[in-house]
Amino acid sequence: ARVVVSGIQPTGVPHLGNYLGALSNWVKLQQNAHSDDTLLYMVVGWHGMTLPQNPKLLASARWDMLATLLAVGLDPKRSIIFHQEDNQDHLELSWLLNCLTPVGRLFRMTTWKSRIASSRNADEADVDETLLNAGLLTYPVLQAADILAYRATHVPVGEDQTQHLELTRDIADTFNRTFKSKNALFPLPNLVSTPSHRILSLKDPSSKMSKSSPDIQSRILLTDTPAQIKSKIRGAVTDSIQGITFDPVNRPGCANLLNILAASTGQDVHQTVKGYENKGHGDLKKDVTEAVIELFRDPQKELGRLLQDRAYLQQVSVEGARKAKELSGETMTHVRERVGLC
Ligand code: TYM
Repeated sequence: ARVVVSGIQPTGVPHLGNYLGALSNWVKLQQNAHSDDTLLYMVVGWHGMTLPQNPKLLASARWDMLATLLAVGLDPKRSIIFHQEDNQDHLELSWLLNCLTPVGRLFRMTTWKSRIASSRNADEADVDETLLNAGLLTYPVLQAADILAYRATHVPVGEDQTQHLELTRDIADTFNRTFKSKNALFPLPNLVSTPSHRILSLKDPSSKMSKSSPDIQSRILLTDTPAQIKSKIRGAVTDSIQGITFDPVNRPGCANLLNILAASTGQDVHQTVKGYENKGHGDLKKDVTEAVIELFRDPQKELGRLLQDRAYLQQVSVEGARKAKELSGETMTHVRERVGLC
């Protein structure tokens, strides 16, 4: 039986990258699940705390995100949907895993390094990394705890999370070897990715589409109107080469649009590009626009409905947390036994 675990931060409305790289895959795994599989999908509020948050906005954003998970097609009858911060087991496990993780390993994570680089750009002065909060550094260990608390076998995430999953596997392996018993406690979780596991910024196709880019034209939000979607795709950076070919290295902007179109219509990208042999960027952008509007139509309708029903969202999250705690509680009993804290 598979145990599938993944999470998303409650910071802002998800964008097309989150949707095509992760959320749509969560739904697909749910659809293809066997009856003995377990799927857990969480909104990770504690991870959100690594950056400054407005408490009022965060308090509503975490419910918006839970509603979004339901709106894209996750079903609380088949998946366990919950708020990370409703299950304290993640924190206890995170502490124990911190004590098995070399800090040097954390200093080498690209997410940490890019945080330092971006604060350097923002301040145009050398940042003193000792002033960055410790949560940013240990963030990947909490993520490992989210995964290992359920002894996950499969983790559906986008490309930017690859390094975090590698760390998770290494920590699991270290735990298994340090606290040996008849059998290993933690399976080494596998990454489950999609062909569109890296959607690029519409304005700068050398970087990924991201929530933190200051340019809102660079990303399409799940809540964008058709007019907004149209204008963002019309303004997407491509190139001046005639015709359409799929060449991610030399034509990243164009390849990104083809990837989006292929993923939105459930096609293979090499199939998709065949339809554009005699066409131009304008034709491609028009079709991408239509496909994305169509892709978001039903989730948007459903989201509008769910946001009016806080009582239902609360019920889903309480029930989800109860089931999650039941599973992690079992893991934690084994963990405490193995480490000697029992
Ligand atoms: P987060 O909230 O940044 O992103 C959620 C998911 O969206 C994927 N993603 C993308 N995929 C393709 N193209 C893009 N441009 C793009 N941008 C984002 C991310 O890879 C991710 O799958 N640390 C995680 C949350 C987390 C988690 C976990 C994930 C916490 N605990 C346990 C899995 C298991 C994060 O910040 O995701």
